Amino acid sequence: MTIRRLTGLEILDSRGCPTVRATCALASGTTGTASVPSGASTGAAEAVELRDGDPARYAGRGCRKAVANINHELNRALSGRADIATQADVDRVLAELDGTPNKARLGANAILAVSLAFARAQAVERQVPLYQHFADMLGTPIRHLPRLTINLFSGGKHAGGQVPIQDVLIVPRSARTIDEALVMASAVYAQAVALIRREYDMRWLTADEGGLAPPAASAEQLFEHAVTCIRAAGFEPGRDVALAVDVASSHFYRDGRYDLGPTPMTAQQMIAHVSGWVERFPIISIEDGLAEDDWEDWPDLCAALAGKALILGDDLLCTNPQRIQRGIEARACNALLLKANQIGTLSEALEAYRLARAANWSVTLSVRSGDTEDDWLADLAVGWTADYTKAGSLTQSERLSKYNRLLAIETERRGNMS
Ligand code: PGA
Ligand code: ZN
Repeated sequence: MTIRRLTGLEILDSRGCPTVRATCALASGTTGTASVPSGASTGAAEAVELRDGDPARYAGRGCRKAVANINHELNRALSGRADIATQADVDRVLAELDGTPNKARLGANAILAVSLAFARAQAVERQVPLYQHFADMLGTPIRHLPRLTINLFSGGKHAGGQVPIQDVLIVPRSARTIDEALVMASAVYAQAVALIRREYDMRWLTADEGGLAPPAASAEQLFEHAVTCIRAAGFEPGRDVALAVDVASSHFYRDGRYDLGPTPMTAQQMIAHVSGWVERFPIISIEDGLAEDDWEDWPDLCAALAGKALILGDDLLCTNPQRIQRGIEARACNALLLKANQIGTLSEALEAYRLARAANWSVTLSVRSGDTEDDWLADLAVGWTADYTKAGSLTQSERLSKYNRLLAIETERRGNMS
């Protein structure tokens, strides 16, 4: 399918920070549009978002250069070329044109927007739902819909840092459908709102992804609160609703020590500490339990928690096939957090996904803390049969657009018109 024209647009994400939207028009006249998200708790090895650096606009974070790259250089290189007709062709040319290992020249924000907009245009042209198009790209039938991991409490960089860890998520395990999972999560969330009023005498405040951000004294206190809320909502912790934790520990790793307070810990002490959490609380997944450059200690963390909790790599892996390969060889983790904008094209994200699957890893598809109303992530999670999604809390339209899309897909696939 030949591209006729690419256009870019600077839009605002859920933090009011600029990001990029691209539209891809095919020769047939069909168009596809996609918007890219943006992280705050970013990994050092992520592909680079191109920012203008003009202090007069959005404190230097404008995306006019990235948009101009779509409108000019990328449009010139990709339009009217009958030999650039598949996702693999488009993504290869995007990466080659950029020419850097981390998409720094043209911008991963410009590149991913084009990559996704082309996928959407293709799905429209083929007259298949976007999730089916993604499944066809992978070449594997959709086996089941993803399970949800939903932010309940937040700390770290997504809140005021009142607690160093980043997210406490709930996993409605006994739910049989997306619909049931959302009903259960909503009941637990309502209990957490009530708990915050009761325990802290305050209105609830939410963090970037809609997680509640009470001024708790410690991570353990957040886990205790979560268990209280699960019970209060009428569910059995662990059996009905379990917990997943994004420790995001790169952000409190200083001079080789993990500073969760009061005394900074060595990696081995941190592993014992995290293992203690998994013993005491119904935690089934630990994300970034160690820092992104602490390759030496990750295998010990993975061995310590094997069979008890998933060891999920986010900043460690950065959806980067080379880092995933290293993680597999080192037995550093057993689950991939996949964020397409960490790597910059759909084809490379697919390679990351395939590598993880070949190693029998679990895969979670994740949004970013700065996200948009675009819902492509839901289609990608369904199309690639992700085990889990991490799409934020049950507030804010940029999060709900993903849940609402999953509800629509579930209904569509059931053929249920009621
Ligand atoms: P980010 O964080 O989107 O702010 O980078 C999300 C995460 O760490 O999972
Ligand atoms: Zn993370």
